[in-house]
Amino acid sequence: MSKPSSEPLELFDHSATRASTRVRELREQIERHNRLYYEHAAPEISDYEFDALLRELAELENAHPELASEDSPTRRVGGKPLEEFSSAAHIVPMQSLDNTYSPEELREFVTRIRKLAEERSIHFTIEPKVDGVAISLLYENGRLVRAATRGDGVTGDDVTQNVLTISNIPHRLRGEAPSQIEIRGEVYLPKAIFARLNAERDEEGLPPFANPRNAAAGSIKQLDPAVTASRKLAAVFYGTGVWTGDQPAIGREMFATLQKWGLPISERILEGSDEDSVNAAVQEMGELRHDFAYETDGAVVKLDSLAMRREFGSTAKAPRWAIAYKYEPERAETKLLDITIQVGRTGTLTPVAELQPVFVSGSTVSRATLHNEEEIQRKDIRIGDTVLIEKAGEVIPAVVEVKKELRNGSERAFEMPQHCPSCGAPVSKDGVAWKCTSHTCGAQVRRRIEHFASKQAMDIEGLGEALVAQLVEAGLLNGISDIYRLDRKSLLNLERMGEKSATNLLAAIAESRSKPLWRLLHGLGIPHIGVTSARDLANRFHTLDALASATEETLLGIHSIGEIMATAIHTWFQNQENRALLESLRTAGLNFGEADTTAAPTDQRLQDTIWVLTGTLSISREEASEMIRRLGGKVTGSVSKKTTHLLAGDDAGSKLDKARELGVPVLDDAAFRELCG
Ligand code: IVH
Repeated sequence: MSKPSSEPLELFDHSATRASTRVRELREQIERHNRLYYEHAAPEISDYEFDALLRELAELENAHPELASEDSPTRRVGGKPLEEFSSAAHIVPMQSLDNTYSPEELREFVTRIRKLAEERSIHFTIEPKVDGVAISLLYENGRLVRAATRGDGVTGDDVTQNVLTISNIPHRLRGEAPSQIEIRGEVYLPKAIFARLNAERDEEGLPPFANPRNAAAGSIKQLDPAVTASRKLAAVFYGTGVWTGDQPAIGREMFATLQKWGLPISERILEGSDEDSVNAAVQEMGELRHDFAYETDGAVVKLDSLAMRREFGSTAKAPRWAIAYKYEPERAETKLLDITIQVGRTGTLTPVAELQPVFVSGSTVSRATLHNEEEIQRKDIRIGDTVLIEKAGEVIPAVVEVKKELRNGSERAFEMPQHCPSCGAPVSKDGVAWKCTSHTCGAQVRRRIEHFASKQAMDIEGLGEALVAQLVEAGLLNGISDIYRLDRKSLLNLERMGEKSATNLLAAIAESRSKPLWRLLHGLGIPHIGVTSARDLANRFHTLDALASATEETLLGIHSIGEIMATAIHTWFQNQENRALLESLRTAGLNFGEADTTAAPTDQRLQDTIWVLTGTLSISREEASEMIRRLGGKVTGSVSKKTTHLLAGDDAGSKLDKARELGVPVLDDAAFRELCG
């Protein structure tokens, strides 16, 4: 792929008609990719490739002004609000940024600003460009009243209910706050969580997310806030829209104020005052960014003086006082030596690329997941191919492209095995995944035990991948419950197992018996149940037995449990083998929880009701939602035919209109309090 910025396009080759055809083509392609990105959260090309299309179009429009058009994608931000969410108009529109990949253009930007500033001195901040989903929070008198996605920049989707579930977003600003302020930032999925989420998706036969941004976009645009809550999103803030009353004079002071209010900002903000120092800071950020919790794809350089920002203003698309410097994706070319199969804990067969080791984005890569058979077919990956490797979300090595032009005919197509490579049992298709049909398969047993003992579950120190493999091999572990039958004598018979390690391991196992119930629940490996939902289940049911006998309807009343999860939990507890496992764990003395005798008998008076909240209420939305859930009801983000109640506070807008249109009963604050007692 050619670099978009530095090589001038050969415009002279284009006759006027060829230019006009190409402009039309480019606009269509860009519009399509915009829709895929913003409306479906499923891009087909990288940002880098997208930027290259946009830049080619801009250059053609510059060279042929007669082809320019008001509604060209070069003039505006992509994306339209989704139909399912109600729309939210931004008070101050959300702009995009001009991009560059070239240090030279970055210098030109600084020079341009110096000229505009005339005699005045200039100063810049250099921040990470967070690769998440842009969000605008509206706080009124310090209270979060609305959260909206960018949409087309003027109007976005109202995603308040989902944003309320993000733990580092304050529902109330600390200290004194203006009567009205829009806070702008990015919602992201932490890189580490992205890696885990995708591994789980492979296991469940779901298509992987291409990067953390897609995962965040998919999560924030969930109509069910419970799913958003289960995804562990976070946010970081870097700007403001409307701001009533006194405003700071410089960007750095704005950051300090956001932080004082309790809003998270970037951990590193660098500074510069001329071409050299700004370029140096951008290079430094290029190194620092690998250590941030979120994925970044560039650095944003902003003029610090807010007065000068106002004075220099914007073009139709972007402010003149800021620019985004994008880092080129770090890719490496290598050979795909073989494709092997990894068997997961639920039996999913995941194809893995065995690569000639190659250095990319800070470490050597020798393996990359290929996710599933369809992925291999879609990219036409063959054994012996030369491939391009990139780290998805800066952490997971991924094959992004096959160099088909380098094939010499010796490459071999890959076929999924008909039998499990671990135990030899036949495989069967489940969605996009192939699964081993045996339950006693050694690989599955190993993975189930590894998961049970892992840090996020029972946290049994010392019982890692290598030891589990050794114990399974030696016939000492055939399932989770065997962990509690291990004894010193048989451990000491193992190779490389000393007195001290054996003592420590047995102590860690003994200690795990009293670990909190949610750890056990997560460790059992019930499909779709992650840490958050395991915690919610433990909080709600207090004992494993209460959970085991819960109906799907009761499960659905819980904050982070959606329909798929409710069915999965219910089915898991019906299974005979799983019941037998639970009985042996009970006998082994594991903590199955204690019934909460202090709690009032559960009142399910709102059972089967589905609520939407809107407007300003006298209590926070979160409190109202919690109350509804406690009483057995469900809270969703938008009004539909399924909605049974609308709780409307002051200044309720389009949701109220929609509810009236559909004949959904509307309750005000007072009626709601009465209903809930
Ligand atoms: S400032 C008017 N700062 O990148 C300027 N944007 O490609 C508004 N982004 O629309 C944006 N990190 O969604 C700014 N530190 C940062 C950013 C940032 C990520 C996003 C933002 C923006 C997009 C432009």
